[in-house]
Amino acid sequence: MKKIAVLTSGGDAPGMNAAIRAVVRSGIAAGMEVIGVRRGYDGLLDNDVFEMDLRSVSNILQRGGTFLSTARSPRFNTPAGVKQAARNCRQMGIEGLVVIGGDGSFKGARDLCAEGISCIGLPGTIDNDISCTDYTIGYDTALNTAIEMVDRIRDTMQSHDRCCIVEVMGHHKGDLALNAGLAVGAVAILVPEEQYNIDRDIIAPIKRSQKLGKHHFIIVVSELMVDIEALCKEVERKIGVKTRSCVLGHVQRGGSPTARDRVLASEMGHYAVQLLVQGKSCRVVGIKNDQLVNYDITEGLAIPKEFNHELLRVAREISI
Ligand code: F6P
Repeated sequence: MKKIAVLTSGGDAPGMNAAIRAVVRSGIAAGMEVIGVRRGYDGLLDNDVFEMDLRSVSNILQRGGTFLSTARSPRFNTPAGVKQAARNCRQMGIEGLVVIGGDGSFKGARDLCAEGISCIGLPGTIDNDISCTDYTIGYDTALNTAIEMVDRIRDTMQSHDRCCIVEVMGHHKGDLALNAGLAVGAVAILVPEEQYNIDRDIIAPIKRSQKLGKHHFIIVVSELMVDIEALCKEVERKIGVKTRSCVLGHVQRGGSPTARDRVLASEMGHYAVQLLVQGKSCRVVGIKNDQLVNYDITEGLAIPKEFNHELLRVAREISI
């Protein structure tokens, strides 16, 4: 393989730049030309590409976001769009493509493979919602950011004897909420993987803690589950403690990647290029028990995502 390309797609995630850097430098080390594609699959459709060299990825390892820019591309997500993108790749001599993104982006990669372009997917999303990997690029940074923010919120809640309901991202998966909630000592954690009951899962633990002398409370909820303002009013009425809300939002997606995300992204980027060198296609990369692994994209996406229910039980037991 003489020429490969790299793009980022879907929501950005800290560590994507480190992954791009690893792909570019490993590709050049393997004797290949490496093309950067701007704005995800939109860039492939518009031929918005440029040749990268060793220096074009200097000074990006430590930066959040993605310097290639990213997009969700409705234009690409049609049979005609995929065919056009594959045609453009062929015209530019691009034989292999590394796609850094989430499961939606991998479906696009799988479709491009069917059109003859060898694709490798790298899991880049703060949600940690890709089943064939223990960790996605960006998750660790987002988790640490969420924890830092909630620690700050706790300072003010503790000073006023208040309760705060904090909403974290996750896109229908509860890893961020569970692990942030455990790490900040949240008295209640709501995740999409478990049905909740406000009296049982929020009010009862708070009342139990109140009886034991606790005066301030942090509740962590995963996004897209509850109307946080309505929940605030209900909780305040039932526990008799002033309750505020805070939606952490996109602050969780930005920022300099943690050591863990930089290392993971660098390892995965290098591994993706090795797979292309070996002539592999339609693979998604993961890390399982600290070992890099790769799966057929369709099979990888079909693996059910496991949720650590036991850890949630532990969090509930010790946050008292
Ligand atoms: O997938 C990453 C993510 O940040 C999710 O956690 C969130 O649900 C979604 O993207 C938000 O998307 P947007 O930035 O388009 O609002």
